[in-house]
Amino acid sequence: MHLLVTGGAGFIGSNFTSMALRKGERVTVLDALTYASGKEFIDAETKSFPGRCNLVEGSILDRDVVFDLAKEADAIVHFAAESHNDNSLRDPMLFVRTNVEGTANLLEAAREWGVRFHHVSTDEVYGDLPLGTPEKFSETSPYRPSSPYSASKASADHLVRAWSRSLGVQATISNCSNNFGPRQHVEKLIPRTITERLQGRRPRVYGTGRNVRDWIHVDDHNDALWQVLTRGRIGETYLIGASQEYSNLEVVRAINSLMGYEEEDFDLVADRPGHDLRYAIDWTKLKDELGWQPSRTDFREDLAATIDWYKENRAWWEPKKAATEARLSKWGL
Ligand code: NAD
Ligand code: DAU
Repeated sequence: MHLLVTGGAGFIGSNFTSMALRKGERVTVLDALTYASGKEFIDAETKSFPGRCNLVEGSILDRDVVFDLAKEADAIVHFAAESHNDNSLRDPMLFVRTNVEGTANLLEAAREWGVRFHHVSTDEVYGDLPLGTPEKFSETSPYRPSSPYSASKASADHLVRAWSRSLGVQATISNCSNNFGPRQHVEKLIPRTITERLQGRRPRVYGTGRNVRDWIHVDDHNDALWQVLTRGRIGETYLIGASQEYSNLEVVRAINSLMGYEEEDFDLVADRPGHDLRYAIDWTKLKDELGWQPSRTDFREDLAATIDWYKENRAWWEPKKAATEARLSKWGL
């Protein structure tokens, strides 16, 4: 297949691109190379797979670029987005433009050329769950987004459903929980905590730290995406998760102890406005229909491997770190 991977220089998209190339596919990455991207990861793949990996620097908002690239592709795998909740609280319109208008643009191109479309979405479109209950999100949960980021992703999901049902686009959607692993931007909880430690500072936990996230290794997410892209039913939505629910306090304590610090060595800071309490995924449909299940289920071991990756890749994240911390400290985070 020739895949057009939007946002393919970002955290999940670049890991997906590496996986697809190793499977023998051809990949064109369309990425605006924003602050969150890692151009060097795609440049390295372009060298390793000459003629099979190509990076186009451009925006999904650019109709001409999108239409030209879609025409040549067998499938579009759509990762490109503004992805950070804290940023969406300060500049919501950027999220509307990129995540909503950008998705509409791609859907129009997929419609024009009859290209298969997979939309990579998030569990946050379903809002949050109460703490301490067995309740989980499923494909039939009502949409109830809390932040401008999750509302923009919910809007994009609705566009994909409409273009699929009424305009004939061959689309699928997946909604995944919190990813972690190599190449994630230092603004997100796990890499931020690790890199604060590596630069000699204490991690910061928002609010009470009791909020719960359902963690999945990025390789498991991409493996599930591959199953949905290649074997999923057109018009369907699949939830992706790995049943690894931990509170933010538990995550930060685990990183502290793996890095040789006292578990309680962190600061509580201001809470995120509208902060979602808990996410949890029921991935039964993916298991029953496509036989998928997560393989990375030792959270502590995968956290340790992620810590090692950040120790070994300081040249990538250190230039991004100062700007990120300046931004977050302005917001009291
Ligand atoms: P990321 O922020 O690391 O990467 C996003 C990429 O999109 C970057 O390379 C950026 O340059 C690119 N991009 C931004 N605006 C663009 C534009 N206008 N045109 C082209 N490219 C543009 O994000 P991520 O964490 O890798 O998330 C990828 C996708 O997966 C997003 O759609 C996100 O909503 C979804 N998702 C993320 C998670 C998670 O835990 N990170 C979980 C579920 C779903
Ligand atoms: O659920 C999927 C979503 O997961 C994706 O759609 C988003 O793109 C991705 O960013 C992530 O959203 P979260 O807001 O859950 O991730 P973040 O890493 O920003 O925060 C995780 C939790 O940790 C959240 O409860 C806020 C908290 N937090 C975050 C940071 C950066 C802290 O307590 N301290 C921090 O320094």
